[in-house]
Amino acid sequence: MSLFTIDLKKCKRDGMCAKECPAQIIVLTDKDTFPTLMENSEESCINCGHCVAVCPHGALTLSTMPLAECPSIQHKLLPGASPIKQLLMARRSIRFYKNSVAAHDLLEELIDTARYAPTGSNKQQVQWTVFENPSEVNRLASMVIDFARLMLPLTTDETMAKSMERKIAAWDKGIDSILRSAPHLIVVHSQADLPFAEADCVIALTYLELYAYAKGLGTCWAGYLTAAANFHEPLIQAMDLPQGHKCFGAVMLGYPQYKYTRIPTRNAPVVTWRK
Ligand SMILES: Cc1cc2nc3c(=O)[nH]c(=O)nc-3n(C[C@H](O)[C@H](O)[C@H](O)COP(=O)(O)O)c2cc1C
Repeated sequence: MSLFTIDLKKCKRDGMCAKECPAQIIVLTDKDTFPTLMENSEESCINCGHCVAVCPHGALTLSTMPLAECPSIQHKLLPGASPIKQLLMARRSIRFYKNSVAAHDLLEELIDTARYAPTGSNKQQVQWTVFENPSEVNRLASMVIDFARLMLPLTTDETMAKSMERKIAAWDKGIDSILRSAPHLIVVHSQADLPFAEADCVIALTYLELYAYAKGLGTCWAGYLTAAANFHEPLIQAMDLPQGHKCFGAVMLGYPQYKYTRIPTRNAPVVTWRK
């Protein structure tokens, strides 16, 4: 089956698909012909679907992407800039969670939405491991503390050492300042040696975090866990990521205990404008 099909009755030969194709493999030589795929170019298609997405006539189909699975954009549902700006400014890292757990379907929806994050060359190689069980999240936190105990005598950075000491002391008093007693942990990972693996994972997790906030959930990036995740053998085993994968980020997730009422200040951006 050919990768690329044009419905000759619907195609208006406007050339938008050819112009839009980032791989430049769609050709429309003149106004009297229809767009075609360059010879032997199917392997160059990155399957981004821009040709399908841009065609206003529904004239173009990719065999990898049935039109029925490409819903029309509901422009009326798109928020304006102000609600999006408010969402970006009002999101906070959540460090106190309610005891309640998030429904499995909701966790699925978060990940389903994060699939639409951009990935280098549209490789879409980001994978997820979701720890749904609060006691398992707590077990992972305890392993990060074990790692901190091991690393503390070797740590030369004084600020880092003090921070580790405080976290260990808190843990010993029954306070989890590693994963904040969050009910869930979402870990993002990818084959370690892929180009853009880290950027892809971080962007996907950022998508997830923002959508989680829009759904009334709270998240906090789990930096200490991420720092230990690829080095501490018991943690590596407990996380059980696919062979060759590296953890590039993780967020704690649950329902926030507190609502925030103000937006804190941030440093003025440091920008070099070149004109
Ligand atoms: C990569 C990364 C790692 C982080 N790790 C932790 C962490 O381990 N524990 C924690 O409480 N907060 C962590 N944070 C949250 C930051 O402290 C927080 O983003 C920052 O203080 C700004 O607060 P805000 O997110 O509410 O705007 C992390 C944030 C990022 C981006």
